[in-house]
Amino acid sequence: MSDDGSKPPSDAGADAAPSSGADGAPASSGPAGGGAAEEAPVGAAPASGTGATPGDKQPSAGGAGAEEGAAGASAGAASEDQPAASATKSSAAAGDKKVKSSEKPKSGEKAPSRTGASKSSVKSTGSGRKRGAGATLENARIGFLGAGKLVEAIVKGLVQHAKVTPGRIYVSSKSGRSLDGFKQNGCVVTKRNYDLFAKLDCDVVFVAVHGHVIRELFKLGGTRPVALTTNYIPNQRHPLYLLSLVGGIPLTDLKQTLLNPDHPDKYKLEAHRVMLNASVAYGLGLGALDIEPDSKKCATVVRDVLTSVAKLEYFPETTMDAVCALGGNGLAFVHYFISALSDGGFKMGMPKVVAVKMATKTLQSAAACLLESGKHPSDLRDACTSPSGPAIYGLHLLESKDTASGLAAAVEGAFKRVRELVESK
Ligand SMILES: NC(=O)c1ccc[n+]([C@@H]2O[C@H](COP(=O)([O-])OP(=O)(O)OC[C@H]3O[C@@H](n4cnc5c(N)ncnc54)[C@H](OP(=O)(O)O)[C@@H]3O)[C@@H](O)[C@H]2O)c1
Repeated sequence: MSDDGSKPPSDAGADAAPSSGADGAPASSGPAGGGAAEEAPVGAAPASGTGATPGDKQPSAGGAGAEEGAAGASAGAASEDQPAASATKSSAAAGDKKVKSSEKPKSGEKAPSRTGASKSSVKSTGSGRKRGAGATLENARIGFLGAGKLVEAIVKGLVQHAKVTPGRIYVSSKSGRSLDGFKQNGCVVTKRNYDLFAKLDCDVVFVAVHGHVIRELFKLGGTRPVALTTNYIPNQRHPLYLLSLVGGIPLTDLKQTLLNPDHPDKYKLEAHRVMLNASVAYGLGLGALDIEPDSKKCATVVRDVLTSVAKLEYFPETTMDAVCALGGNGLAFVHYFISALSDGGFKMGMPKVVAVKMATKTLQSAAACLLESGKHPSDLRDACTSPSGPAIYGLHLLESKDTASGLAAAVEGAFKRVRELVESK
């Protein structure tokens, strides 16, 4: 995954301020007259499960923080300014006339209904969504705010290994640059982050932008940060599960860029800091969650979505940046290590493919023994080293090349770089 931080500061939610008229949503001047405090786009009027709180406007910062507003959404019908596909009519707000039938997911999938609850306990919201029944891995609308490498991996894992149909996956990114691939695969895409919470009415939303995007919103906002979603997210009538993958940003800071501070009690929100490494693409990821996954405080749908693509461990939120450096970025270091190890075999005459496979299986067998025995790696290293034998000669060469320090420094470097990127942009 790219954490090169190459994104320009303008990524920080500073989108074009909407002009009026489009989608019928007037672009209001914000308190500062800068146009950032927009009316909620009409197209994104509260969907079935949402109920936007009046006065959800967020502070203006001269257009910063505002997403493509209603104007952008309608300029060029069937463009990506509008959600490219809608799960079904029922998922869209009553006034959401811009979503065309031709924009429905190719899979023709119907909007997931809340199954599993008896009719008596479930009321229709008036737009086909059921209220009162919980979201599950089988029916949840899963949103992604950000469309980068990590999201690509998670979506691939969910679709290929957790049987989540693409029509239930909703992806937003500011520029729309990376949305094409998601759209081609049947996901619903939008350039307005707000849509994920409003008319697309997601149950679970992963936030996967870089930390500097959030930090920039604080810099732009003055007394309180500019919203990542143009307007604060509406207070859904169903629970919303917010999963932050954002490196270097505490959950409390992220929440300030999404939730209306005037109505904090109206949200039915469960928010977590999460780590997922890129192996999720194969359904073999390593994941971390800031709460015991088996705890009653962790919603089943959160646990099920994450464990469908990753083995999940609990880590306190305060340690999550270190966890990302080791378990997230560490994946790249391990691949580097395997590649280097296999080069040794290649140098000694093994065919490259065979050497890579052998190095991989060696690592797999070492890892399995460590997990099985619960011992420290030094113990197992001693157990496979004989007096004056080849292993100790090899190990001493590794020492002389500072290999151990190099690997530790790689983790430290990744950790520091995330913080550096958050502050320096
Ligand atoms: N937890 C982990 O294990 C782990 C591992 C790797 C990364 N991460 C974290 O995950 C996040 C994403 O990493 P990545 O590798 O996927 O990054 P990436 O490939 O650079 O993608 C970043 C995405 O953010 C989008 N974006 C930027 N500003 C936005 C805004 N205002 N609204 C909506 N979308 C916006 C970009 O959209 P455009 O294309 O439109 O610019 C891009 O799609 C980072 O915070 C990183 O630290 C976590």
